[in-house]
Amino acid sequence: MSHKQTRLFSDEEILSWITEITEEDIKSVHQKSLVPFYDQLWVSGDGAYLKDFKSGKEYLDCTSQAWTANIGFSNPDVAYGVSQQLERLSHVRYGFPTIPRVKFIHRISEIAPKNLTKIAVNAMGGSAAIEAALRLAMINKPDSQQFYTYTRGYHGSTLATMTLSTRFAGVTRFRPWGFDRVSKIPFPYCYRCPVGQESEKSCHLECLELAKHQIEYGSVDKVCGILMEPIQGPGGHIPAPKRYLKELRKWTEKNNIFLIWDESQLFTRIGHWFSSEYYNGVTPDITCLTKAIGGSLPIGCTLAREDLIGFNSAEEHSTFGANPLMFVSGLVFMNYVEKAKLLENTRREGEYITSNIRKLQQKYPYIAEVRCPGLMIGIELVLDPETKEPANTLAADLIEEAMTKGVIFGHMAPISTDSGKLFRNVVKIKPPLIITREDSDLIIEVFESALEEAIDYL
Ligand SMILES: Cc1ncc(COP(=O)(O)O)c(C=O)c1O
Repeated sequence: MSHKQTRLFSDEEILSWITEITEEDIKSVHQKSLVPFYDQLWVSGDGAYLKDFKSGKEYLDCTSQAWTANIGFSNPDVAYGVSQQLERLSHVRYGFPTIPRVKFIHRISEIAPKNLTKIAVNAMGGSAAIEAALRLAMINKPDSQQFYTYTRGYHGSTLATMTLSTRFAGVTRFRPWGFDRVSKIPFPYCYRCPVGQESEKSCHLECLELAKHQIEYGSVDKVCGILMEPIQGPGGHIPAPKRYLKELRKWTEKNNIFLIWDESQLFTRIGHWFSSEYYNGVTPDITCLTKAIGGSLPIGCTLAREDLIGFNSAEEHSTFGANPLMFVSGLVFMNYVEKAKLLENTRREGEYITSNIRKLQQKYPYIAEVRCPGLMIGIELVLDPETKEPANTLAADLIEEAMTKGVIFGHMAPISTDSGKLFRNVVKIKPPLIITREDSDLIIEVFESALEEAIDYL
């Protein structure tokens, strides 16, 4: 018996929904939407470039649209795989396994740190993966409900993950929920050391000692876990020092506290699959991935130690949590990164861009720090290297100027302190990992010329 379904619409009709629009439609959507729209209307993406509908202009996208398009926009292998899967089976609910789901799990376990062998996947992205990680930790330590997270950290936009995040001005403006269970400890942000150290030589990880003291003596409940981005993203592309993570890991192990990582932005972007490769083998008990690993489709993964008790079927499920399309695009993503040797390219181009921008530091003392690894580049701008006054407007103007020159740079999320100080002074360069040397040269050239013009506005 044939179950062939018939098409109701012509190709032209469907294509018109994707590629045609009137000025009136664009104007009037503002009134109907609960969220703001930007001026551009992105109509197509090709590799590392995005095309604006109105102007027809192409932009080299150094945001990868929230650290996601790591193998480029409209990757042809993803397009083929997803469309083939779509023609075969478009959706199943959580309890129904499919071939891509099984293969995805095997593939990720081939590249994951050896101690992280268990995995749960959802299709709702990072916030859901982080919440799953916390629930998993609580299942495994039912008498401990307190968590610690870091200043300047970001973990999502749901009510619980907002509580776990720093208060980003205008981003996480709601009052935290479950606040009594979450406390913050200082992130080891060496350029602005939370305990006043000025050089690596004199530093004895005093900020870690302070965090340990706070956890030991200041907790209101038994401590379940510490959640962190090993390299902070929205907070300004700030890597925790390697020796900090090594000592933290030793201490959490000794004290039976779960170390939970949020690697949402880091997977492949730092020139390694997982952060533990960059951190000389230091591994967490649980880690979370999202963004790039979905190959452009929404996905959130929680990976955990083999000996941890997993979820029952009611505790971790979601309507789209087994959607086969995301498993296909995720599988293509991992295989593409390997076959196209993108980890090597990321390290090579990241090193090339950062070393060239560092050369500009002498000429422009506004460039305080150029941070990496890989293509997770953060450039902190200050008005005065002595006072370290954040150069917020300089960063904003630089980004605007670069946009007119055809390069989109990222801007750190705004962080405001209680005393009213605002930090929005990090320019982020995080292009797709497929960039060529020519693209890197364009990035360096546009960064310098946009900086010069932004300096003129000061
Ligand atoms: C470090 C980090 N964690 C978690 C999230 C939340 O992911 P999602 O927006 O998919 O919920 C983000 C999103 O930007 C992120 O950057």
